Amino acid sequence: MIRSRIAGTGAYLPPTIVTNDELARRMDTSDAWIQERTGIRQRHLADKGQSTSDLALEASRRALEAAGLSAAQVDLIVVATSTPDYIFPSTACLLQAKLGAKGGAAFDLQAVCSGFVYALATADSFIRAGTHRSALVVGAEVFSRILDWNDRATCVLFGDGAGAVVLTAAQVPGIHASVLHADGSLAGILSVPGNVCGGTIIGSPFLQMQGGQVFKVAVKVLDEAAREVSAAAGIALEQVDWLIPHQANLRILEATAKRLGLPRERLVVTVDRHANTSAASVPLALDEFVRAGRIKPGHKVMLQGVGGGFTWGASLVTM
Ligand code: UT7
Repeated sequence: MIRSRIAGTGAYLPPTIVTNDELARRMDTSDAWIQERTGIRQRHLADKGQSTSDLALEASRRALEAAGLSAAQVDLIVVATSTPDYIFPSTACLLQAKLGAKGGAAFDLQAVCSGFVYALATADSFIRAGTHRSALVVGAEVFSRILDWNDRATCVLFGDGAGAVVLTAAQVPGIHASVLHADGSLAGILSVPGNVCGGTIIGSPFLQMQGGQVFKVAVKVLDEAAREVSAAAGIALEQVDWLIPHQANLRILEATAKRLGLPRERLVVTVDRHANTSAASVPLALDEFVRAGRIKPGHKVMLQGVGGGFTWGASLVTM
């Protein structure tokens, strides 16, 4: 049976760093509030000229280099993003062109902060089906463009960035199992409820969130998804070396690890430096720990997404 494995990881953070203190000079907030409620200390923000496909390009180049593959050898590109360069063409097609490749399949996938896990599961299915041999799976976002910088309840929480993995066909997993879920009846608790119609913005182009409700649902579904994917993979939670939940809030991450009985040392945390980068957060965190030599070949890693839609999911992977 054909399976897929992660052959390389890469990430990119735009160079501009904005600290909590800098935000506190512009609005009624404080480093103490942001750190206490979220664990966030700073975020990277894209420069005006940088688009999602630009961030994706840097992360993808690094992942391809780590995998020892050229862009031409990848026959599928999936970009998870809620902040695409354009309405169309897809950011994946723009990325493919920037990578100098052509001919393979390329499409975007929109599952907000669960986007990377959804994209990974999708690419894994293509490889398992035998229709594709290698895939570039990217999570890339410029959330700073959809934030209302006058709304302190949301704008302090997010950052920009991109992460990528290269999946290749393998005899052994790799990706053991993935679970994906959604509950569209909760669409209203986290949304950007606007669109463009006849050249005019209809609704709101800014992110809106009922933070308390998102928090409660996130802790519940991250716990459920972890247990479900662990059972589907036949790998006990105690055997998981690293837990990488979507990096939204340190309190959500710590609550999840605690509920699952996983020690704090096995929890990957990057939200303190990256803030919430939506679909980019999981591959950014994965790449950071791989390059630091902390996540090693053979380690079992649980990747988890949760966010707007409402969507959630998890994958259990041997590196
Ligand atoms: O990717 C998934 C999406 N997002 C998440 O997972 C986020 C989930 N939710 C959360 O992380 C938390 O709910 C927040 C961090 C968003 C908020 O934390 P909270 O402990 O639920 O605070 P709160 O919304 O109940 O607000 C508490 C107080 C309010 O003041 P009053 O009404 O008590 O006087 C807010 O106005 O904190 C105030 N507040 C702020 N104060 C200083 C809200 N934002 C800020 C701020 N600085 N930036």
